[in-house]
Amino acid sequence: MTPWMRWLHKWVGLLIGLQFVLWMASGLMMGLLPHDKVQGHEFRAHAPAPRAWPADVLAAGEVLKQAGSAQVIVSGWLLDRPVYQALDGKRQRLFDARTGRAVVIDRELARALAVASYSGPGKPQTPILLDWTQEVRDHQARSWRVDFDDAQDTTVYLSAQTGEVLEHRNSTWRLFDVFWMLHIMDYANRSNFNNPLVIGAGIGGLWLALTGVWLLVASFHLREFVPQRWRRARELTVYAPNGSKLRTVKAAAGDSVYVALARNGLQLPSNCGGGQSCGLCEVRYRGVPPAPTAADRAHLSESKLKIGHRLACNLPLDADMEVEVAGGASLWTEHEATVERVSAVTPFLREIVLKPAQPPGPEYQPGAYLQVHVPDYELPCDRIVRPDEHHGDWAALDLPDTLSNREAVRRSYSLSLPIDATDGRLTLLARFSPGRQDRKRQPPGKGSTYLYTLQPGDRVNFSGPFGDFAIRPNAREKVFIGGGAGMAPLRAMIHSLLSQGAQERIHYWYGARVLRDAPYVDEMASLAQRNANFSWHLVLSEAAECDDALVRGLVHEAAHDRLLKDHPALLDCDFYLCGPPAMLAATRQLLHRLGVPDEQVAFDDFKI
Ligand SMILES: Cc1cc2nc3c(=O)[nH]c(=O)nc-3n(C[C@H](O)[C@H](O)[C@H](O)COP(=O)(O)OP(=O)(O)OC[C@H]3O[C@@H](n4cnc5c(N)ncnc54)[C@H](O)[C@@H]3O)c2cc1C
Ligand code: FES
Repeated sequence: MTPWMRWLHKWVGLLIGLQFVLWMASGLMMGLLPHDKVQGHEFRAHAPAPRAWPADVLAAGEVLKQAGSAQVIVSGWLLDRPVYQALDGKRQRLFDARTGRAVVIDRELARALAVASYSGPGKPQTPILLDWTQEVRDHQARSWRVDFDDAQDTTVYLSAQTGEVLEHRNSTWRLFDVFWMLHIMDYANRSNFNNPLVIGAGIGGLWLALTGVWLLVASFHLREFVPQRWRRARELTVYAPNGSKLRTVKAAAGDSVYVALARNGLQLPSNCGGGQSCGLCEVRYRGVPPAPTAADRAHLSESKLKIGHRLACNLPLDADMEVEVAGGASLWTEHEATVERVSAVTPFLREIVLKPAQPPGPEYQPGAYLQVHVPDYELPCDRIVRPDEHHGDWAALDLPDTLSNREAVRRSYSLSLPIDATDGRLTLLARFSPGRQDRKRQPPGKGSTYLYTLQPGDRVNFSGPFGDFAIRPNAREKVFIGGGAGMAPLRAMIHSLLSQGAQERIHYWYGARVLRDAPYVDEMASLAQRNANFSWHLVLSEAAECDDALVRGLVHEAAHDRLLKDHPALLDCDFYLCGPPAMLAATRQLLHRLGVPDEQVAFDDFKI
């Protein structure tokens, strides 16, 4: 449950976090704005001193009779005029206390009343009669608005029934009112603190706090609070996949297998540094494995979990343990190679040929990958050589002037040709990760940038080979489906099969956006011409560039419609998949729907 809870926590956290920022910022701003101005006191004239009620006025009872249905009558002053105010429910009327005549608050009177309540330097503008206004939202009847041309843009509001001064509003209050709206989240009326948005945000905040505590507790193990030297010593024995014992290392109880091996100089493949997110640090538990965790399930197939595969960074050494590690002894070894050739196959796919210092052995199988040790670097952008025909593509990227990587990292790259076809050279096919230079400011990828800055003669360090993406030794019909940099391992596998004289049918479906992005098109076509059992299908998702000889659409859909849908013996085929995550997921789902068992589907997830 933890991964999806983390995911939800992150996104709810973003929403609630933004609202928290608004709450705090608006609260702070409301606190900073001068109270006197917000209240409209700055230019408010003092109330006149109480005056004696004159003797020459009508009795209240007489006026009450005239007012008809009035329930209450009160006396008061309207400027210099004594008046009676008759209240009848919500209706309020004014009567001159001397004549008993109804008093109407007209434009002139409204202006005079506003001027009397105002002490600032501004001149009054023509009063405007309003049915309702947000600036005196609690007053549900008509009101007069009188603007004054002072620095605060003061407006005086008066009741159109009684002439009572309702409010003095000004630009400070208006600013305050915007912050108030953001604070109470009542974007319509700016008055209701119990609105569904505030309640929802409150519940979201509480949920966030509780799940945060839960995630915090879940991410700690008690053993992490015990210093390493006080923990029991454990033995971790490492085997190669063929069962040969490689090494036994000492470790502290509670360390993960990944950390224990790293402390002993064995760096398992990893793109995430032990963060349970790349899925590369896979080992096989010898014996009865612990139940898989959510992170194991997220990265490893059901069939692998069944036979004891687990993520080493998520496998604690609670007791002495034995694990099998693909890559075996080579994990301890760092190799050196010299760059022999770099060539741009498409604008953003580059072939890099390395000559290793030591001749590579048989473990460099098609489908295997190397971990290139990417050093820290700071290089000018023009260090990336761009062939003339690709200048336009690169210009559109708007890369930073300096390409940099602050700390050494490792990145995985698959062999893209079998070593016996290249006289022991290691051929890689690297896709450039440009990042984004717009407002999102994602730097170009550290590893791919490094590979793109390499030039013949440069030295490269790497470890490996690793991985269990390999051709199964059988004569079953094979279907390869790929896209993007997934061309690399699939190409190596196909070359290897054909050069070894495989007789079974081999299909290769490769998807690209446009023809220009598809690597090795002529090479694949020529292989298909020379080998009757091999067929090559290029599928382009952008129709504009297609001619009739090319298949249009998404690669998995094209393979389904033209091959898999009507295949008479689908369950006798082996599948090899490698490509962008969305393509990989869609193809695996398709095969699952078609009833192809997991064991017949091998794939490599580059996560790019
Ligand atoms: C088994 C395996 C085999 C592989 N084989 C190949 C292969 O043959 N060919 C190939 O091209 N690739 C291959 N890959 C993928 C390769 O290992 C790298 O993942 C890929 O090259 C990207 O790495 P990078 O260092 O260039 O990018 P990273 O630095 O890892 O960045 C990845 C992306 O995140 C963005 N990013 C970086 N930093 C930030 C930041 N701070 N904030 C936001 N975004 C950021 C970058 O712009 C980039 O788009 C393979 C992967 C695996 C697991
Ligand atoms: S190191 Fe990346 S998942 Fe374990």
